[in-house]
Amino acid sequence: MADDGRTFDAAATEAVLSGKAAQRDLLRFLTCGSVDDGKSTLIGRILYDSKLIFEDQLKSLERDSKARGRAGGALDLSLLVDGLQAEREQGITIDVAWRYFTTDRRKFIVADTPGHEQYTRNMATGASNAELAVLLVDARKGVLVQTRRHATIARLMGLRHVVLAVNKMDLVGYDQATFEAIRADFVDFARRIDLPEPVCIPVSALMGDNVVNRGDGMPWYDGPTLLPYLEEVDVVQDSVSAPFRFPVQWVNRPNLDFRGYCGTVASGVVRPGDRIVVNPSGRPTTVARVVDFSGDREQAAAGESVTLTLADEVDVARGDVISPADARPQVADQVAAHIVWMSEEPLYPERGYLLKIGHATVPAQVTEIKHRLDVNTQAKLAAKRLDLNEVAYCNLSLGRPVPFDPYEDNRTTGGFILIDRATNHTVGCGMIAFGLRRAANIHWQALEVDKAARAHQKHQRPCVLWFTGLSGAGKSTVANLVEKRLLAMGHHSYILDGDNVRHGLNRDLGFTPEDRVENIRRVAEVARLFVDAGLIVLVSFISPYRAERQLAREKVADGEFLEVFVDAPLAVCEQRDPKGLYRKARAGQIKNFTGIDSDYEPPEAPELHLRTDQASPDELADEIVQALRARGMLK
Ligand code: ADX
Repeated sequence: MADDGRTFDAAATEAVLSGKAAQRDLLRFLTCGSVDDGKSTLIGRILYDSKLIFEDQLKSLERDSKARGRAGGALDLSLLVDGLQAEREQGITIDVAWRYFTTDRRKFIVADTPGHEQYTRNMATGASNAELAVLLVDARKGVLVQTRRHATIARLMGLRHVVLAVNKMDLVGYDQATFEAIRADFVDFARRIDLPEPVCIPVSALMGDNVVNRGDGMPWYDGPTLLPYLEEVDVVQDSVSAPFRFPVQWVNRPNLDFRGYCGTVASGVVRPGDRIVVNPSGRPTTVARVVDFSGDREQAAAGESVTLTLADEVDVARGDVISPADARPQVADQVAAHIVWMSEEPLYPERGYLLKIGHATVPAQVTEIKHRLDVNTQAKLAAKRLDLNEVAYCNLSLGRPVPFDPYEDNRTTGGFILIDRATNHTVGCGMIAFGLRRAANIHWQALEVDKAARAHQKHQRPCVLWFTGLSGAGKSTVANLVEKRLLAMGHHSYILDGDNVRHGLNRDLGFTPEDRVENIRRVAEVARLFVDAGLIVLVSFISPYRAERQLAREKVADGEFLEVFVDAPLAVCEQRDPKGLYRKARAGQIKNFTGIDSDYEPPEAPELHLRTDQASPDELADEIVQALRARGMLK
């Protein structure tokens, strides 16, 4: 690898990715195509023909081509990019390989994403950081389902520049009619998905036609060749001409005399004296100074990292967005958005995630999957959950209002990622279409008799005892004994039991994962209301998923939620089989049975862990009452 940055280099990639991203002299693009469309050869050809390969690399390329190349001993340029393949085979999580190279006229970062059907998430990841996509097709095959899928995702991710490289023209005798037919086909499709006029270039990566040099094969073609086109295409304009957006990354307060807001200009331009507002609060003020490491500046534009100081002492926090007073972003706590799901673990409506938009992170739930998009056919399908690589149009509800722009207008302030709260992994990415105002006029009604007053009257502190465990573990048995003891002591309680609640409030729900998520969400809401009523609430539900139990915990105040893990080995539960359900499940008569063909995620840190195979129900009920007493719930 060279250290003068002339050829690709991981460290340089990192530097450029994290630095001034939207410079005019930098183009980030992604290549996508099916396996064997010749992506590696194409990139190799660009490097080779623009003399970006060094003597020693060339030597080893010649050697490797003879040993294991697929070009019959001639130079196999795909081997230049071979490192990617190796990384991929090792199963690196997000399979996007970034490569960096520089020509005299521009710096390039290429995201190479594999083309298989299941790799939507890789492409989405690549596209979210790119300005342009090169879609490869094989001239012998033309536009395939895959090509349409790639184009659709590129469009969805807001890429306005798409190049269709019709490769392997040498294998169709450089036939103009073949190229024109493919072009017509693709232009027609592009129009259907509202993709601005794509550029189509006939190339032979293998022979070198129309990649860097024109070659002799296609004198009939007078359009641009690939690399020169990539060197010239203007992609920066969009973000500079958009309204000014400055997501605040951190507040810099080195001493009492200086308070600055640091971040990268997401779009537009800012100058001292500009009238601005801080969002979501809407507080107006004026930009005092625009500063960077070299001192005061007259302005800063999209892509530049600067510190702003403001004329007034207004409250600004990380995650806020500074905008012009007369061109503000929207602010909402409910939005409609496209989501690309990137996790093996499905997305379920109503499950709690974290949503990160700019530098703001808020709790979020998908309240409704409006439709799933078949990216191959554009068909809109019904869906109750989203699996890996699926794309859907959804409504989301956020923990608090956030500033944003529609993704169509601004990819930085309109794009977000979803994070799993337990693992902290990125599980999806999204593009906001618009804000929803549905809940805007529904306020929480403040009532004069409150939880404390109700609880005081009952001589207790309200709480939730959340019994979780396999069917037959003994949840209802123990809960029932606890409630009898509480009643005898004059306390006020209520049992919410899975079987019972499923007869009424939740009778529309079955046992698919998505139905269980909703089952628990509803009962958690009811438990919250009962706590507000001053009661000791005993919830006895299998509640197999950590995420929903966590959500239930967060609905009440700290200390009001006691998770009780009612634990017995599956074999013991199965042997007890109080309702004969395990027998039916084993016989295949009941599907999705917890412990058999549906998961149970045991609590990691329950407040109480009961082993019902080792102690009697009475002993365990006593243990719980003692725990309540010790925590001051019973007065
Ligand atoms: S949960 O998983 O959504 O929390 P819940 O506690 O409401 O389940 O309901 C579990 C009860 O429903 C079990 O005690 C059992 O009696 C009954 N049941 C019927 N089918 C199933 C099934 N497939 N899996 C688990 N329990 C089932």
